[in-house]
Amino acid sequence: MSKLNPLDYPICFAHPLRITHSTWITHVPFAMFLVDVLHPTTLVELGTNWGVSYCAFCQAIKSLNVDCRSYAVDTWRGDPHSGPFGDEVLNDLRKHHDPLYGGFSRLVQSTFDDALPHFPDKSIDLLHIDGYHTYEAVKNDFDNWLPKVSNRGIILFHDVNVRERDFGVWKLWQELKSIYPNFEFAHGHGLGMIAVGTEYNHALDMFFNESEELRCIKDFFYQLGVNVENKYTINMQKAQLQSLAAQLAEKEEKLAGKEDEVNTYQQQLQNIRNSRL
Ligand SMILES: C[S@@+](CC[C@H](N)C(=O)[O-])C[C@H]1O[C@@H](n2cnc3c(N)ncnc32)[C@H](O)[C@@H]1O
Repeated sequence: MSKLNPLDYPICFAHPLRITHSTWITHVPFAMFLVDVLHPTTLVELGTNWGVSYCAFCQAIKSLNVDCRSYAVDTWRGDPHSGPFGDEVLNDLRKHHDPLYGGFSRLVQSTFDDALPHFPDKSIDLLHIDGYHTYEAVKNDFDNWLPKVSNRGIILFHDVNVRERDFGVWKLWQELKSIYPNFEFAHGHGLGMIAVGTEYNHALDMFFNESEELRCIKDFFYQLGVNVENKYTINMQKAQLQSLAAQLAEKEEKLAGKEDEVNTYQQQLQNIRNSRL
């Protein structure tokens, strides 16, 4: 089996340009690494929301100058798990995405089912499924989109390690693991990867067989992911601190104004008292 050293793919250390709150955040370094390993010609994401995962793929495609067409499919209306939302999410994403990635990538506002006929069979090299997470929904997405995946195709599933409410990706994942070469991160709600064609980059075989090296690689990507998450948390806290400091300065200014008023009233009172003596 050929060895695959993540250090040969320094894109995994890149600072992500699009980071907002998302349970995907700790998988960003792996997403960038995977783009470098696969050099996909067509990438499709089902479920994009604020675009943390999608923009990680796009950033790697652009930085590495990969000849790839990329598509994000989402209604940008939400689902029972992510909750409903309005135009603000897509508008915010467009502002970031279009100037940076508009040359090779499209944000397709559509249901997954409606988008399906627009993609030829066996055309997608990297498919990321991250839509509605019930067993029925994710199975429907997988069954519908599998014929669209190429012989070198890789499919990613998010939330394979969520055992709450009616999340059922884990159940589909159990079924797929017995059929396809597979690999799974347990952190960040779980990210599963399967190779569905025979012509995938066999450097990935290292991911599909348990070994001590694989355990080190898992930990390596976990630590990189935690680092990205910590940076995000620190930036959020800095922004919060700045906003609190601005509020404090405003309140201190108001207080100083009130103190001046009190001093003036006290002076007037004293004058009145003095005039009565
Ligand atoms: C979990 S979020 C995606 C998270 C994203 N990948 C990230 O990096 O944070 C799921 C998204 O899938 C979309 N969605 C769910 N079912 C859909 C469907 N059948 N068609 C289109 N969009 C769908 C929702 O609108 C929501 O934005």
